[in-house]
Amino acid sequence: MSEANILQELEQIKQAGLDALASLENEEALQAWRTAHLGRSAPVMQVFQKLGTFDATLRPQVGQAANQVKVALEGAFNTCSETITAKALAHALANEKLDVSLPGRPIAHGRLHPDTQILRELYRVFGEMGFQVYRSREVETDEYNFQMLNFAVGHPARDMQDTYFVDAGERGDNPIVMRTHTSPGQVHAMQEASATNPQNPPPVRIVLPGMCYRYEQTDARHETQFDQIEGIAVGPGITFTNLKATLSDLARRLFGQEVRTRFRASYFPFTEPSAEFDVECFLCHGEGCPVCGGGWLEIGGCGMVHPNVLRNGGYDPERYSGFAFGLGPQRIAMLRYGINDIRYFWENDARFLEQF
Ligand code: PHE
Repeated sequence: MSEANILQELEQIKQAGLDALASLENEEALQAWRTAHLGRSAPVMQVFQKLGTFDATLRPQVGQAANQVKVALEGAFNTCSETITAKALAHALANEKLDVSLPGRPIAHGRLHPDTQILRELYRVFGEMGFQVYRSREVETDEYNFQMLNFAVGHPARDMQDTYFVDAGERGDNPIVMRTHTSPGQVHAMQEASATNPQNPPPVRIVLPGMCYRYEQTDARHETQFDQIEGIAVGPGITFTNLKATLSDLARRLFGQEVRTRFRASYFPFTEPSAEFDVECFLCHGEGCPVCGGGWLEIGGCGMVHPNVLRNGGYDPERYSGFAFGLGPQRIAMLRYGINDIRYFWENDARFLEQF
């Protein structure tokens, strides 16, 4: 092949490439063009491959010319590619309108369980009254759950709190038990405090929240698992009047200044005297309605800490006295929100939970 011929052919290769490029409309065609005109078997590439067959004196010139063709084709490709992309964008902007009047997709927000909400409110209110939050274990021993609280082994009052025991085995009369109430925490809290100064134990004023477990015949007001919030105040000269004032004040802070409360004499082995604490139904104002039954809802038990329990906690009942109470936060939430069945709390039904 002569020098003139190959240079002419290169010129044709270039022209053919540029002509083909001019009519391209889209990205797909552009890529096909690139394969055909700049790919491994494209005409200009074949010239490079055949370079060795030319006369040595021709090679530099042919090589240079082929390279210019390749650079020219690449440059034209890039320009064309940019034009096509810009056209596609302009087309999309003109035709694919954004409908800003479409409502957005709502984002599902998580929220706190109603029980957690009421517990936090209780911490706040008790915090204002000077009570600290104390945590105690859910898995207890019979000793702490019952014996330290004056329920001897076989004591009939245990029947009120029939529960789940782990097979006693070698533990004899002190099996492991899921706590049936938060009251064992009273003893833990007192023991912890009195250990810091056994001769002159410091006063204790705590609330103690947590899950409790009982073998219950479930109904609208009873569940096999439920939260309690225990309270205990121990110090010199604490009286039943202090207890009444504390719980009455709590009810007013939770349900408003007008709410009525009542204390009914009751029995717990670990308090003496003992009472049940009722709050007038928030919905029917004492008239009686499906939520409360008789116009009042029992929200907990209370009383003066029994001397034996004070002693078990390391406090001398001759020098110290105290009151304790155990409230059902779910009962409080039921009153507050007009929930008519306690079983909703742990059913995990979003239709219920989303309302709070
Ligand atoms: N622990 C008792 C119960 O669960 C309630 C209670 C607590 C009563 C503290 C008196 C004092 O029934």
